[in-house]
Amino acid sequence: MRVLITGATGFIGQPLCRRLADKGHELLVVSRSPEKARAKLPDGTEIRAEVSDFVDTAPEAVINLAGEPIAEGRWTDEKKRRIVESRVETTRAIVELCAGAESAPKVLVSASAMGYYGDQGDREVTEDTAPNHEFVHEICDRWETEARKAESHDVRVAIARIGLVLDTGGGMLAKTLTPFKMGVGGRLGDGKQYMPWIHREDMVRILVFLLERDDLSGPFNASAPNPVTNAEFTQALANQLNRPAVLPAPAIALKIAFGEMSRLLLTGAKMLPERLEDAGFEFRYCRLEDALSEILAAG
Ligand SMILES: NC(=O)c1ccc[n+]([C@@H]2O[C@H](COP(=O)([O-])OP(=O)(O)OC[C@H]3O[C@@H](n4cnc5c(N)ncnc54)[C@H](OP(=O)(O)O)[C@@H]3O)[C@@H](O)[C@H]2O)c1
Repeated sequence: MRVLITGATGFIGQPLCRRLADKGHELLVVSRSPEKARAKLPDGTEIRAEVSDFVDTAPEAVINLAGEPIAEGRWTDEKKRRIVESRVETTRAIVELCAGAESAPKVLVSASAMGYYGDQGDREVTEDTAPNHEFVHEICDRWETEARKAESHDVRVAIARIGLVLDTGGGMLAKTLTPFKMGVGGRLGDGKQYMPWIHREDMVRILVFLLERDDLSGPFNASAPNPVTNAEFTQALANQLNRPAVLPAPAIALKIAFGEMSRLLLTGAKMLPERLEDAGFEFRYCRLEDALSEILAAG
């Protein structure tokens, strides 16, 4: 299939593109820096700067991952605007491409995040759980609403509400590993907040699963079946590294350092992948210990 991918140069996008190329798909990539992107993508990938640049090359499928990083720096008003608009505008351009194409893509797989649910304390969260209304929910809601507009052009829309993606070379582990290796890692706040996690390999497999399964649409929680609390995550990582996890970061210090963004670190949702499991998706990494052990051995 001819698959258009946004955010292809990112932490999830790069291994996804390699997987799609290995499966024989033709890749069309949107990147703000086409020249820099080339080295990160498989040979033969067609790279252009805007979604609309592909109007003459109608894709048969679209995977939408692009967006300004959320977990970096303080959420100033300007940063919040970029977080929302980078996602909504890229997705709107995809919907416009679907509307304008002689034959619309068959499917749009669009990223969202566990943030859709906002802070949920320790209750179990499935795709049916009502969200807590806060900024992270607003980002995801506007992103998903835009993506679902493609349905009116007969495009199947599947949305992946992504948990914390784990691997070396990016994501939250890239930020966490150094302090833990130095023996100065620790839980964040009281450590009771849930962290739905997923091995990057399973994340790539989920995106391909949603692309290929013609019968699947709507939201899918994309995280492993056994979410853990921050305290459990901290302990598991310390155990894998044979280091102590003795230096908790007090909530007040995180609030001072990161402002409103500290909510990403101090709140969470016990998200369960109910619809993926009902659809028969089999996770390769169900237990955090197994995921961390594989990642740390490979890295
Ligand atoms: N990684 C996680 O743990 C996680 C968890 C939940 C949700 N997600 C979501 O899943 C998506 C992919 O995640 P990722 O970790 O692969 O992200 P990433 O590494 O930050 O890559 C995202 C890509 O989006 C493009 N991008 C960045 N800022 C942009 C902007 N202001 N406007 C337009 N495009 C921009 C970049 O591509 P170019 O520079 O080539 O244009 C970048 O390679 C993201 O939208 C993220 O929010 C990720």
